[in-house]
Amino acid sequence: MTKSLPHGGTLINRTNENLDYSGITTEIELDKTGLSDLELIANGAYSPLTGFLGQEDYQKVVHEMRLSNNHIWSLPITLPVTKERAASLEEGQSVRLTYNGVTYGVLELTEIYSPDQETEAIQVYRTKDLAHPGVKKMFERGDTYLAGPITLVRTTDKGEFSTFYLDPAKTRETFAEKGWEKVVGFQTRNPVHRAHEYIQKAALEIVDGLFLNPLVGETKADDIPADVRMESYQVLLKNYYPEDRVFLAVFPAAMRYAGPREAIFHAMVRKNYGCTHFIVGRDHAGVGDYYGTYDAQDIFRQFTESELGILPLFFEHSFYCKKCGNMASTKTCPHGVEDRVILSGTKVRELLRNGDTPPPEFSRPEVVEVLIKGMKVNA
Ligand code: ADX
Repeated sequence: MTKSLPHGGTLINRTNENLDYSGITTEIELDKTGLSDLELIANGAYSPLTGFLGQEDYQKVVHEMRLSNNHIWSLPITLPVTKERAASLEEGQSVRLTYNGVTYGVLELTEIYSPDQETEAIQVYRTKDLAHPGVKKMFERGDTYLAGPITLVRTTDKGEFSTFYLDPAKTRETFAEKGWEKVVGFQTRNPVHRAHEYIQKAALEIVDGLFLNPLVGETKADDIPADVRMESYQVLLKNYYPEDRVFLAVFPAAMRYAGPREAIFHAMVRKNYGCTHFIVGRDHAGVGDYYGTYDAQDIFRQFTESELGILPLFFEHSFYCKKCGNMASTKTCPHGVEDRVILSGTKVRELLRNGDTPPPEFSRPEVVEVLIKGMKVNA
């Protein structure tokens, strides 16, 4: 059995497909992020949250990275609407939550409040620069927040990769069936390159299993599409990982690009999925130059191991070193930058778009093949 308890002690389940919502006439149309948050609150991935944050929790999360019950929580999970939309709503009413007009959830609207979004940006993203994709999206989504407990009444259609969508209860069950006590979680919004593979396998040496848990919710437009990545993960696992030591399932959340704050959030969620360990490498969940290379590691030191309840495993910047003839990191390789194969995400995307192949020291050829094919289809 996995030794990891859900965050807050209990795995939340807020799904009720039999709930009769026919009498509820007021509707709020969700965006993609809202829809994925609804589902992840309901299936327990965001335990101990039972709904969208009210003002007291929101303030404490923004300023102290804690919920009002003191549990660690680093990202405000809110339901924003415009002031105009909020004007016709009333606290105390029930609201249907729709996407493309279809009802997916019900919100018991307990609070409507106006957040100080500039403070939120600075606290959560460490910048209010609108060139930051997470900050931009926060300001675009709406300036008034709706709060209250939710119920999911219908799950979304998962499409082609539906078998990789597992609720935390199911992943926990799977780890138990496999007899894994120690499970390391790996977050990614990219294809798995050699540096990722290196740190995953280094971690796997000291635990029982690897939970490869790519984020497949909304990402910025120039990130590689999730369906292409899903194919690339499968071909990589088939060729380079022992089948009985790795489990692949998706994390359907939106990417916030909030660097350090998001690293804490990613760890708490993986704890809910049943992980005991979590990998944090260089510039985790970062974008541009907004965060220092190891800021997302340093932030964990603000909390004790027992209140985190999941052990972060920190890895330094990794690469292939031609002189070592091996994958290595700044911690293990004495050679210079000129001996290291390091490609930026932008450079790799440019190569792939042109049908050029990144070197095998950077990415496995089978993975590159899938990516080039996928980029052509999506061009
Ligand atoms: S993220 O936004 O999902 O964090 P990415 O998919 O690039 O981005 O990274 C996944 C994980 O691998 C993160 O923990 C990140 O810190 C780590 N990582 C990515 N590239 C490297 C690298 N070259 N060396 C060490 N860690 C890395």
